[in-house]
Amino acid sequence: MNNTAIQTDNLVKTIPQAGRDLQILRGVSLSIDSGESVAITGTSGSGKSTLLGLLAGLDLPTSGAVQLFGQHLDGLDEDQRATMRLGKVGFVFQSFHLLENLTALENVMLPLELSTALPPHPGLPPQGGKEQIAREVLQQVGLGERLSHFPNQLSGGEQQRVALARAFVTRPQILFADEPTGNLDRTTGHEIIDLLFALQEKFHTTLVLVTHDDTLAARCQKHYRLEEGMLA
Ligand SMILES: Nc1ncnc2c1ncn2[C@@H]1O[C@H](COP(=O)(O)OP(=O)(O)O)[C@@H](O)[C@H]1O
Ligand SMILES: [Mg+2]
Repeated sequence: MNNTAIQTDNLVKTIPQAGRDLQILRGVSLSIDSGESVAITGTSGSGKSTLLGLLAGLDLPTSGAVQLFGQHLDGLDEDQRATMRLGKVGFVFQSFHLLENLTALENVMLPLELSTALPPHPGLPPQGGKEQIAREVLQQVGLGERLSHFPNQLSGGEQQRVALARAFVTRPQILFADEPTGNLDRTTGHEIIDLLFALQEKFHTTLVLVTHDDTLAARCQKHYRLEEGMLA
């Protein structure tokens, strides 16, 4: 069995510009095993978020290839990539990205509601069990008493816990986290990271963590460093 979760071959991302094109990624080749935790570090502007977007199939490279679980992303159209993400991929962002007019519980249930369009897969609960599953995950992140709160009634750390619950509720095979502690104070950030690693271990999730915190990166099994669009 192929144990590779993500493989890239010479990824290049160029943004056309008047005059000289902007080269964001200049040939990135990497490989991430299933279940592995991988840190991607680099200074601001080095191309980390762009790389994450390509790995997740949110965006396509100018040249080069990405394979997710052996599937070439450039062979899929936008809808097919979206379906693939819904079934296999979770995200956590620096700025939480919760829907402001939904409660914590509703935010966490959302990916389960969307996934009814998908064929059944082992991670997903049966019809009717969705609210129960969402409640349980919110309890696991310590928010069992905050189910009916809206995002603006929650602290930053609590909002990121909701985002973690939402990301893990579908049991994704890969979780992409883009500077998930960037908007949190140090102590809260550490709590979120402890929770992230605990959930990753529990669900055997492949984790790709973008961070500019080297102590955080050291907690991952593998560490890639981007410098001006290339791996150092
Ligand atoms: N769509 C875009 N159009 C123009 N420039 C972009 C675009 N996306 C990213 N960039 C530029 O590419 C560089 C890398 O961006 P990014 O991947 O967000 O870096 P990082 O996440 O490491 O801070 C930055 O200089 C950024 O301004
Ligand atoms: Mg970024």
